[in-house]
Amino acid sequence: MVYEATASAPVNIAVIKYWGKRDTKLILPTNSSLSVTLDQDHLRSTTTSRADASFAKDRLWLNGEEEAIKEGGRLHTCIKELRAWRLEEESKQDSLPKIGDLKLHIASYNNFPTAAGLASSASGLAALVASLAALYELPQSRSELSRIARQGSGSACRSLFGGFVAWREGHAKDGSDSLAEEVAPREHWPDLQALICVVSDAKKGTSSTSGMQATVETSPLLQERLRVVPQRMVDISTAIEARDFDEFGRITMADSNQFHAVCLDTAPPIFYLNDTSRAIIALVQELNRASEANGNGLVAAYTFDAGPNAVLYAPAANMPVVIAAVNKYFPQANAFADPFQMGTTATLP
Ligand code: DP6
Repeated sequence: MVYEATASAPVNIAVIKYWGKRDTKLILPTNSSLSVTLDQDHLRSTTTSRADASFAKDRLWLNGEEEAIKEGGRLHTCIKELRAWRLEEESKQDSLPKIGDLKLHIASYNNFPTAAGLASSASGLAALVASLAALYELPQSRSELSRIARQGSGSACRSLFGGFVAWREGHAKDGSDSLAEEVAPREHWPDLQALICVVSDAKKGTSSTSGMQATVETSPLLQERLRVVPQRMVDISTAIEARDFDEFGRITMADSNQFHAVCLDTAPPIFYLNDTSRAIIALVQELNRASEANGNGLVAAYTFDAGPNAVLYAPAANMPVVIAAVNKYFPQANAFADPFQMGTTATLP
């Protein structure tokens, strides 16, 4: 008999960035982080896991291409932890089918094109963990599962939730309290929208994994960042709670800027932003300056991960202005199919 389960997980974009590990094996971060889930149907990873007595070994396919599951690697760790959990449940409940020892075939797909310029590891690892948890019928505490997803890729632990999600750094040496949790559901602030501006879909030069450890090892500025992030976590949670876009936007931009500053402070320096990224920052600044000069609040806020692509957040009422401005200054940008949805994508030069 083949046992099978499928699960999907969304993309998340951090507004308070995770950058640095205090434990590289367990993937324990040097600071807490907070993300917004882009919970569109077209921005998800979907994974199907099968267990069957006829399988000779664990195998994994990503978008149809087989990937090796390296012994001791991150994928291996996630699978091992979930399997051990299932075996424990089987030892406690005689009625459970004995599937923990069966080999697995796992197939994962991203339904967003590489051209969306988004990292797929977060949603991919989260979907993998969710599908194995469903296959093994494990008690479905998402926070508990986030402890396992975190060991696949740090940012993956936040993709087990929708809406606004915090990953608490935790203090335990074994990582038992380094978990993700929902700060507010998506429905809490439906007026907040996101626009992804794709500057480049090329694979980044310095991976997040190696870049962040180089920062931990060499950046004096990181210490200052670690001093200010805890208050930012509190302040942005309050802003989300109050649906205060001005405060949310200011903290989001400050944190993105500081993250890229610590990258520049790393030896050798890491540059993720390019000229187009900086032009987008200037455009958002100008929109905000003009609005504030008229006594109004922020129009939009930008954030950049470990690459040149921008994610712009704005209240729904402002999104047409933001899109018009992006189209005006970046005429090569793709047409916007559905500008009022989170996750709308524009491709920039
Ligand atoms: C800039 O989660 O990709 O996107 O834990 O080594 O897999 P690993 O790193 P990863 O880093 C994400 C870094 C970031 C910020 C964030 O998502 O919080």
